[in-house]
Amino acid sequence: MDKKKVLITGVSGLVGSVLAESLNQEYEITGVDLEESRQIPTVKANCSILQDILPAFYDIDTVIDLASNPDQFSAWDVIHDVNLKCTSNFLEASRISGVKRVIFASSNHATGMYEFDSPYSEIVKGDYRSLEADSIPLITTEMPVRPDGPYGIAKAFGEAAGRFYSDQYGISSLSVRIGTLNSEGKPINERQFATLLSHSDLSNLFQKCIEASSNLKYGIYYGVSRNKWRFWDVSNSEKDLGYSPADDAEIWRKG
Ligand SMILES: NC(=O)c1ccc[n+]([C@@H]2O[C@H](COP(=O)([O-])OP(=O)(O)OC[C@H]3O[C@@H](n4cnc5c(N)ncnc54)[C@H](O)[C@@H]3O)[C@@H](O)[C@H]2O)c1
Repeated sequence: MDKKKVLITGVSGLVGSVLAESLNQEYEITGVDLEESRQIPTVKANCSILQDILPAFYDIDTVIDLASNPDQFSAWDVIHDVNLKCTSNFLEASRISGVKRVIFASSNHATGMYEFDSPYSEIVKGDYRSLEADSIPLITTEMPVRPDGPYGIAKAFGEAAGRFYSDQYGISSLSVRIGTLNSEGKPINERQFATLLSHSDLSNLFQKCIEASSNLKYGIYYGVSRNKWRFWDVSNSEKDLGYSPADDAEIWRKG
């Protein structure tokens, strides 16, 4: 059987490299990025310019959209010029090219303001004194977005835009609110004991998004490992995608 053709925008970055490495056997993967990927045939183009990226979308089954400025503290002008344009262009290029499924790299920063409320504010500081891990009320994707800045607002925009492309054009549109995917693959501060997404859980989650039934037209999923102090609900990824995370950041706790 022919392999599915998967295009990854932003393929040369951290998340893109992990996905390219793990999914390359299973799928025919190509990329579009400002920089050449070391692993994957890449169209070198700026996702802020629709005409330049269109050729990369030709004959593609599924697009994973990662291209953006990933700095959560980005100022509005960067978000306007890069993130919002890259997001709207990837959706438009997908529509024009007849792509059936898009998977948008959203972020936990679409709901980051919840972290200023108790008990999340204590958890992100590593202050567990009055808490029990099993009884933390989980933040679900049904709850209202509460972005914590322009970067998070742009991710909420991408989720809403994806919903429009699903409703209006029938494109299956899934968004993954990635927690923390770092190059170390382990927590490097207190918050990451709650928010870490291991490389292996990332790859499995995105593969399940690629493979999900074509009847699944829309969904938002938190991308977080099975961390003891996780405060995002992942039960809908089990229900919709048949996937639940495996790794627990707690194994890296010293002492
Ligand atoms: N790493 C995380 O923990 C995390 C968490 C939440 C969301 N995300 C999202 O996942 C995606 C990938 O993040 P990352 O950590 O791999 O970042 P990264 O900076 O390592 O990778 C981003 C890639 O996008 C490319 N890119 C940037 N602007 C572009 C443009 N205009 N045209 C074409 N390519 C462009 C860059 O060259 C780079 O290769 C981003 O959308 C980010 O917001 C990441």
